[in-house]
Parts: sequence; structure tokens; C-alpha cells
Amino acid sequence: MPTLGLGTWRSEPNAVGNAVQYALTQAGYLHIDCAAIYKNEAEIGSVFSKVFTSKAARENVFITSKLWNTEHNPKNVANACKRSLKDLKLDYLDLYLMHWGIAFEHGKNLEPIGKDGKIKREKVAIHETWFAMEELVKLGLVKSIGVANFTNMMLLDLISYAQILPVVNQVEVHPYNSQKGLRDFANDNNIATTAYSPLGTPGTADPTAPFLLGDEKVKAIALAHNKSAAQVLIRWSLQLGNIVIPKSTTAERIKENINVFDFELNEDQMTKLNGLNYNYRYVNPSKWWGVDYFN
Ligand code: A2P
Repeated sequence: MPTLGLGTWRSEPNAVGNAVQYALTQAGYLHIDCAAIYKNEAEIGSVFSKVFTSKAARENVFITSKLWNTEHNPKNVANACKRSLKDLKLDYLDLYLMHWGIAFEHGKNLEPIGKDGKIKREKVAIHETWFAMEELVKLGLVKSIGVANFTNMMLLDLISYAQILPVVNQVEVHPYNSQKGLRDFANDNNIATTAYSPLGTPGTADPTAPFLLGDEKVKAIALAHNKSAAQVLIRWSLQLGNIVIPKSTTAERIKENINVFDFELNEDQMTKLNGLNYNYRYVNPSKWWGVDYFN
């Protein structure tokens, strides 16, 4: 699995296709991270069908998609996966993740909020969904399966019964939330950590969110290496052993974000960045779904 991939969360329609095409054909990316809930898989698929002119060209790229929370019922899992494959115009995925360990009421509304302001849940246990995901591997629709946004306790439970083990836990990781305990536990159990929001997901609607790219300590380290703050944040995460998926739809930034293999942060710089942690979450469903998921 290539350690650096292009993220596509919040990649805008009419921009995401160009971004993926540029990443694959000009910037040297070999890994694209997708999800049904990003609502842009069809546009990405049009690019894949253009770029993958041979079996070898397809096989050279690592592609992830994710099962959305409304599709957790085992009877819906294969259909959801096939829909992503159809949109992405692929025969198989390299990796399919359970996007969150929570089942929403199945239906057209992908975030069904009840009158009480809380998300409407469905009674589906994680193990039921996981067993249905294992079937996808057996059917050859996906090469491997994993999870996203899982906590240690959720991973501990999952690996107690999984016949096909999760290969990845994709979670929010950046210096303001370094997730050391979660990464160490995953590592001990042969589960790789993929870091989403590695740049602190700037430009989101929340004006109170801290601006990680503007952090003075990050900027000072960037200056010392003649690199950008974004490059330092990506490099820090790679040196921790993570797979990193910065999102961008801007050609220069897509290029900049992969140009991180020609420098190294020293121990002192790593320690300084590690010291910025205060478990801050940019992505917290308690704000959107009324579920205090991470506590
Ligand atoms: P854009 O897509 O307009 O280039 P994250 O991956 O942490 O969620 O961050 C994604 C956000 O960071 C997007 O708003 C993206 O903007 C912006 N971004 C991506 N790469 C860079 C970069 N090298 N410098 C500054 N901002 C960046």
C-alpha cells in the first residue's frame, strides 16, 4: 500500500476528476482514497476509466472506498460495494473500509436526523456488518477490508472474532491529535493506521477550529527545511509510520504534498511536533449526529 495517497473528502464536483487525473498522470500518486459518502465517486470513475488503459495500469494503483453507515445491514453490504465499484468503474477495490462503527437507519437519506436532533440508528451489530464484508473478499470484489474511526475497544472486539482481519484503521491524525495510544495498539495487532485530515482539514465551516498550517512551531520547522508547513505535517505523519492521505483539488498543492520524500525531520523536530498534541478533533460526530462516539 503506497504510504501517500490523495484524499477526496470534500473534493468538489467538477474539480475532483481533474485532481485525480493530475495526481495519477502527472504528480506520481499511486493511491486514491474514496468513499461513497463523498458523493464524487462517479466523477472519479470517469477518470479511472480514461487513465486505466490496461490491467497493469489499474493494478499499479491502490484504491480504497468505504461502506456508508446506512448500509451496515448485511443484506445491503454487497450492493453498496457494487455501487461504489460501478461508480468508480472498477472490477475490484484494493481496500474497503467500514466508514464508522455505527449503523444508521437504511434509506435514501444518508444522515437521517430524528426530531430529537439525533441520528436515527438501526440495530445492526458491528460483527454482522464485518462478516458481510468478509464475503466481499471471498467474492473477489475487494482485496482487503478494514475499518475507519475505530477506537481501541472497537478494534479489540473486532479482532476477537474476525476471520479476515482488518488491515487498516483510518482515523484523524495530525500533531494536534497524534493518537499515540490508538496507533500503538493498531501496530501491535498488525493493523496499519491511515491518517486523515493530516493538514488539520483547513477551510471547513467551523471558524473556531485551530489553524494547524499556521502553527508557529510547524512553520519554524518548515523554514528550517525550506519546505511548506503542509509538507512538514505530512512528513511527520509518515515518519510515525502512518499512511497519509492529504486532500487537495489544487494541482500545485497535489504536487507539493507528495514532494516529501527528499527530507527528514530530526528527533528534536519530531519531539516538538509530538508535543503539540492536545487530542483536538476536527472531525467529531457528536456535533453532527448527536452521538458522543469517541467517549
Ligand atoms: P484545496 O483542496 O483547495 O487545495 P486535509 O487533508 O487535512 O483534510 O486538508 C485538506 C484541505 O487542505 C483542503 O482545504 C485543501 O485545499 C488544503 N490543502 C491541501 N494541500 C495544501 C497545501 N499544500 N497547502 C495549503 N493547503 C492545502
